[in-house]
Amino acid sequence: MKQTVLVMGAGSVGCYLGGLAAGAGHLVHFVGRPRVLSALASQGLTLSDCDGRRLHLDASQLQLHEAPPRGLVADVTLLCVKSGATAEAAHSLHQALLPDSLVLSMQNGVGNAERAQAAAPMLAVRAGMVPFNVAELAPGHYHRATSGQLVVQSAPGPALDQLGNAFALQGVRLRQEEDLRAIQWGKLLLNLNNPVNALSGLPLRAQLLQRGYRRCLAALQAEALDLMDSAKVEAAQLTPLPPRRLVQLLRAPTPLFRMLASRMLQIDDRARSSMADDLRLGRPTEIDALCGEVVRLAHRQGRQAPLNARMLTLVQAWSYAPQPYGPRELEEALGLA
Ligand SMILES: NC(=O)c1ccc[n+]([C@@H]2O[C@H](COP(=O)([O-])OP(=O)(O)OC[C@H]3O[C@@H](n4cnc5c(N)ncnc54)[C@H](OP(=O)(O)O)[C@@H]3O)[C@@H](O)[C@H]2O)c1
Repeated sequence: MKQTVLVMGAGSVGCYLGGLAAGAGHLVHFVGRPRVLSALASQGLTLSDCDGRRLHLDASQLQLHEAPPRGLVADVTLLCVKSGATAEAAHSLHQALLPDSLVLSMQNGVGNAERAQAAAPMLAVRAGMVPFNVAELAPGHYHRATSGQLVVQSAPGPALDQLGNAFALQGVRLRQEEDLRAIQWGKLLLNLNNPVNALSGLPLRAQLLQRGYRRCLAALQAEALDLMDSAKVEAAQLTPLPPRRLVQLLRAPTPLFRMLASRMLQIDDRARSSMADDLRLGRPTEIDALCGEVVRLAHRQGRQAPLNARMLTLVQAWSYAPQPYGPRELEEALGLA
């Protein structure tokens, strides 16, 4: 059955996921900024991926809006704004959608679904996790540069099964889980590479192949894992290795890392963290939803998270020092070398 899908926040993730649903024949409404909407209106939407798939949707297949259409009956809404925009976007959904409409927060971080639910108390907000990297290669062209299975919190009714079927037709699997907390924390650990990548100024693969940057990531993850252990916060294993073993592997010399982390390095050369784009374009970053969450986890236990706190400061201070950090320089800035 054809569904009506609303994408709130037509950026990399929103255009990619919305495009997959539209490609499977669903009616997809995209809410976004004029810059993105005008590209979609003039060129349509092109999706590509690291498996070699390509999909083009003509502009006539896309419903484009600057705000959620009032009274829209959406089977499912994908909330795809950055963390700092969650409350405002959820509030506008609250005003537009019918009570109990299903909203999936497809965002990083561990608190966005709760934040959205607080701003939209009449809607049914569920958490989601996007495991892969999506980059905007050109206006209207979004590229999935890594692989993985989407996970969303289950909800009553057929909407999620139908959405999953639509994504599967386009080669992307979606799994439903009761509780996403451990998955979100597991993803947050991996996302601690976002600031490292952003400050390196390098594509993801090139950055991960430098041991100094990996040592920075390993230190941020190890600090977070210690705090999660003491707070009894579980982290799901989202890579072939459990989180603690991944920390060890990141610290290994590069030839060994290259050999043992071949799956992790299956990233095409175009992949970069979207935080890198945010820094480059002077936009707010999601650093507070990543390192900031680790710092808050520490404070709740009367403890400190000095490395994550320092990384938070480095990213926030970026506009004053817009020069990429070399690996040694970043280790020094974090107090590791
Ligand atoms: N990109 C990835 O590879 C990836 C992978 C996994 C998870 N994620 C997560 O997915 C979420 C979205 O990331 P993204 O990379 O897709 O971000 P993005 O490219 O910045 O897309 C979000 C878009 O929504 C727009 N927006 C924000 N508030 C809006 C509003 N009220 N009305 C209309 N448009 C609005 C933003 O415009 P402004 O910039 O003007 O605010 C931006 O164009 C983040 O939590 C991210 O961490 C991203």
